[in-house]
Amino acid sequence: MYRILSKTNIASNIDRYIIEAPDVAAKAQPGQFVVLRLHELGERIPISISDWNAKDGTLTLVVQTVGRTTEQMAQLQAGDCIQDVLGPLGNPALIEPVGTVACVAGGVGTAIIYPEAREHHRVGNRVITLVGARSREHLFYQEELAEVSQRLVVATDDGSHGYKGFVTDLLRQVIDDGTYLDQVIAIGPIPMMQAVAELTKRYDIKTVVSLNTIMMDGTGMCGACRVRIGDEIKFCCVDGPEFDAHLVDFEALLQRSRLHERSGQVAPSDGKECSCQCQEQSIL
Ligand SMILES: Cc1cc2nc3c(=O)[nH]c(=O)nc-3n(C[C@H](O)[C@H](O)[C@H](O)COP(=O)(O)OP(=O)(O)OC[C@H]3O[C@@H](n4cnc5c(N)ncnc54)[C@H](O)[C@@H]3O)c2cc1C
Ligand code: FES
Repeated sequence: MYRILSKTNIASNIDRYIIEAPDVAAKAQPGQFVVLRLHELGERIPISISDWNAKDGTLTLVVQTVGRTTEQMAQLQAGDCIQDVLGPLGNPALIEPVGTVACVAGGVGTAIIYPEAREHHRVGNRVITLVGARSREHLFYQEELAEVSQRLVVATDDGSHGYKGFVTDLLRQVIDDGTYLDQVIAIGPIPMMQAVAELTKRYDIKTVVSLNTIMMDGTGMCGACRVRIGDEIKFCCVDGPEFDAHLVDFEALLQRSRLHERSGQVAPSDGKECSCQCQEQSIL
């Protein structure tokens, strides 16, 4: 069992949890995630490791309430326990001195990009962080990101804070202003990552995305998280979650996530038709 040491509401529908998980905190690295199971009969959900403290044995997770399990999690309070915290899973982000890096985050992706921006800053890269949110109430981690960024720019869809528009407009402005970017990292909703990938491909800027596919076991066994990367099929949980953005088949990813949004079920990988009749096999 993993005890919740503190829980703080940091934005509309978004809570930050500090969890006692010394085994995971000892090995965590930027870009990795855990799979949570709240109770014995609970579903497994993947959540990125937003921060950790190996000395204290704690993990910080930032969770947006979107459906059944995240709603159940939002009911938990400090002192309550989570049945399983499996991890760290996934490959650590590849972070090395490259020059100037733009970290582009949308929604809860802001929490996921934070440890990566911090690590880029630590290794000496110049970090330009661009954050997009629906409105000012959905913004969080601004001070934390400002501390590790040479420049932090914010866009809100409704203009209630910062630039009115999409974060991809901000990225285009940064590029058009003549800032040379050695690398871009984009983490957020699939359409946002797709738009970033299309933009940076035109400018030939190396770009990495962290994919938030549907996942079940998180260990490469079930096939739920498969994605097409170039000519290959990869499993997001063990081969990712970060991939070369210019090789990701975003259309298939979007189609797959939309079908399962309607059905609320995840496809099997055993060669049979998906139980939700989504004709899964024809998508990938
Ligand atoms: C590697 C990885 C890291 C993630 N990190 C975080 C994180 O740090 N914080 C966070 O809040 N969320 C994160 N997610 C997304 C999170 O796992 C889902 O929001 C969660 O599983 C939804 O569970 P639910 O039972 O509450 O919602 P469900 O009832 O299963 O679904 C509700 C809605 O959420 C959508 N949804 C379900 N799974 C996902 C998903 N994987 N990505 C996007 N939308 C989804 C469904 O299509 C549906 O519209 C991550 C996902 C992955 C794959
Ligand atoms: S979640 Fe099962 S293979 Fe990735």
